[in-house]
Amino acid sequence: MPDKTPADINADIPAASRRIDGAVHDSRRHESAHKHVSGEALYVDDIAEPAGLLHVQLGLASRAHARILSLDLEAVRRAPGVVAVFTAADIPGDNDIGAGLRHDEPLFAEDVVQYHGHPLFAVAAETRDQARRAAGLAKVEYEDLPAVLDIAAARATGTLVTPPMTLRLGDAEAALKAAPRTLSGRIVIGGQEHFYLESQIAMAIPGEDEDVLLHVSTQHPSEVQHIVAHVLDIPDGAVTVEVRRMGGGFGGKETQANLFAACVALVAKKTGRAAKLRPDRDDDIRITGKRHDFEVDYQVGFDDQGRILATDMLFAARCGFAADLSGPVTDRALFHADNCYFYGNARMASLPLKTNTVSNTAFRGFGGPQGMVAAERVVEEVAFATGLDPLDVRKVNFYGTTDRNVTPYHQTVEDNIIGPLVDELEAWSDYRARRQAIRAFNAANPYLKKGLALTPVKFGISFTFTPYNQGGALIHIYTDGSIHLNHGGTEMGQGLNTKVAQVVADEFQVDIGRIRITATTTGKVPNTSATAASSGSDINGKAAQNAARALKARLVEFAAGHWNVPEAAVVFTAEGVRVGDRLLTFREVVKAAYMGRISLSATGYYKTPKIHWDRAKGQGRPFLYYAYGAAVAEVTVDTLTGEYVVDQVDILHDCGDSLNPALDKGQVEGGFIQGMGWLTTEELWWDAQGRLRTHAPSTYKIPACGDRPRRFNVRLVQNSPNVEDTIHRSKAVGEPPLMLGISVLHALSDAVASVAGHKICPRLDAPATPERVLATIERLRAQAAAGEGMA
Ligand code: MTE
Ligand code: HPA
Ligand code: MOS
Repeated sequence: MPDKTPADINADIPAASRRIDGAVHDSRRHESAHKHVSGEALYVDDIAEPAGLLHVQLGLASRAHARILSLDLEAVRRAPGVVAVFTAADIPGDNDIGAGLRHDEPLFAEDVVQYHGHPLFAVAAETRDQARRAAGLAKVEYEDLPAVLDIAAARATGTLVTPPMTLRLGDAEAALKAAPRTLSGRIVIGGQEHFYLESQIAMAIPGEDEDVLLHVSTQHPSEVQHIVAHVLDIPDGAVTVEVRRMGGGFGGKETQANLFAACVALVAKKTGRAAKLRPDRDDDIRITGKRHDFEVDYQVGFDDQGRILATDMLFAARCGFAADLSGPVTDRALFHADNCYFYGNARMASLPLKTNTVSNTAFRGFGGPQGMVAAERVVEEVAFATGLDPLDVRKVNFYGTTDRNVTPYHQTVEDNIIGPLVDELEAWSDYRARRQAIRAFNAANPYLKKGLALTPVKFGISFTFTPYNQGGALIHIYTDGSIHLNHGGTEMGQGLNTKVAQVVADEFQVDIGRIRITATTTGKVPNTSATAASSGSDINGKAAQNAARALKARLVEFAAGHWNVPEAAVVFTAEGVRVGDRLLTFREVVKAAYMGRISLSATGYYKTPKIHWDRAKGQGRPFLYYAYGAAVAEVTVDTLTGEYVVDQVDILHDCGDSLNPALDKGQVEGGFIQGMGWLTTEELWWDAQGRLRTHAPSTYKIPACGDRPRRFNVRLVQNSPNVEDTIHRSKAVGEPPLMLGISVLHALSDAVASVAGHKICPRLDAPATPERVLATIERLRAQAAAGEGMA
């Protein structure tokens, strides 16, 4: 072989006559799309049940806060079909399912019931119906204790579930005193039920000795493994947790699967029979945590140009009875209470309050949306106070690119594109002309009023719990050239498995069809992080790329030696593997490597660079980068009834160099709709006894097809690669678009404001249900009649 330089070799390679199917940046369909629609996709409840499987149901407390005086389960045990009943006394290990093993969240309540619905026992029966009927037969005597149900009551007690955090930038107190103008107010922000299509579910299959295999609908298989081991008092190594897919998680399966998994594992190991637990939808909604509701008190100093000079904000959150993820959730609220705005001077504090309600948890955005809603209210207040268009107030306060770019947590914003992004959306959506048209429409229509708003998003990407920012993957190549791909992330509909397969297909330059996407299991990739914080493809994509590169390096070294060419002459192309002048199939190379005794299995690992965080100081770089976006919403409100329709939404969203624009557009659309639902029709309502009364679709209103924007235009920002070295320069997309839904709240507020001549800030709280919209309209009319906003 003459000495050829790599450049000569490249010149020898014929121009690619084909592209691989499923390359990165291609709009490849979701790997299971056809199975989702045909019903062939297997969810936990579809897995063939082992012979002798027991069905498990939970017995729930009917008090919000009470001492348990007696628990009589005789009738439950004697009910038809019942095989076993278990309480806290039957747990071999710790009666604890708290996230991070915190010891504040029992599997079964022991002496004290902490919320209405608190599980007291589990009953296992031959059929699901028998288990359900038996669960209702328990006789419990309670001694009621004072129940703290909402934020106001919790503020009075001052009891927190986890330590609060404070962020400080500059001197907020002094800057507020010095500011030409100040104002203060409060916004109330409701919680949200996840309403995943597939409810929580777990199935356990006992093995020999201590072994147990679980199929669980969870975003966090490794934590389920730890919790089960801890409850059963067995080593982690005895527990295997497998997840092929979830029918949605949305954060609601980051920790909330622990209960169900621990319960079936207990039943399986105690009885020696397989066990499955799928709660009714009503029970699922009652006993799993939700998005935290917040009350945010704000004070803002500003000038007549609408420039914000200082903010002081207090974030009080209803956390429920246990910590769960409330610490990082309330932290993330503070990390997003600036949204895209430079405050100059800021003080922000969290108040993670304990209540006798279900323990609230992760939900898409993880506190960030609540922080951002508060930020947008502050901007809106300044707009009304100065008489400027809210869009102009937003723009004048955007972070700079070279200065005015330090956040309240002292991370410098280095990748800011919000200015040009909003300019592009403003032009594309024809914002200014539509503003005029809407003013004219409102002047001509006494009852129907239109509103328009453009709101921006800047969302920090990385887990704020730094150790979670790591991932692993495992790739096997079989001798027929097929590739078995496994990684630590879980598939919940977001398309993670498709994206990771695209990354691997690209490395080997093979069609994606050659890659077998396999169920996530703690047995293949250990010690994984939750698939959360939108980081699934960032972390697992890189880990899988590293595994593929390790294998490729071995194949290249082998082929170079075997066919006697320089390593640079071995190139993976869409036509096949070029080895010098030869063109071989991927399979031929793999087969030869096997015969040459080359290992065809590799792991890959990745950890996010650059990040660090000192929570006590409130300073550091918690995020590797930011994802940006903006939305314009237009609504029409019937001011006689408070009902409304969303007429049009235009979105421009930043995915860097998208790994898969089709999937990312789907995430943007779905996230927006979910955010809109949270801020409009989804209302959680507890009665005076602490019973959640909105525990079914009959009373809890998520967006339906008919609620979607009448015109819905979504574009991804073009030619805007991530400045950080992420997987193929893409950006995380899972959560950020949810916050585009804030535009609908502000469009509604704009329409409402028209009834008082846009002189009074409506202070429309969330969710802006038709009832709340109507009440706000009436309050605004009364305020206007009393002469407010005349000055
Ligand atoms: N998309 C679908 N279809 N279903 C889901 O449950 N969860 C969201 C988002 N998009 C979710 C979804 C949440 S809360 C997160 S954190 C991310 O997906 C997690 O996946 P990723 O990190 O791979 O984006
Ligand atoms: N986001 C989502 N889930 C998490 C985080 C986070 O920042 N930290 C711990 N779990
Ligand atoms: Mo998503 S709330 O980080 O699971």
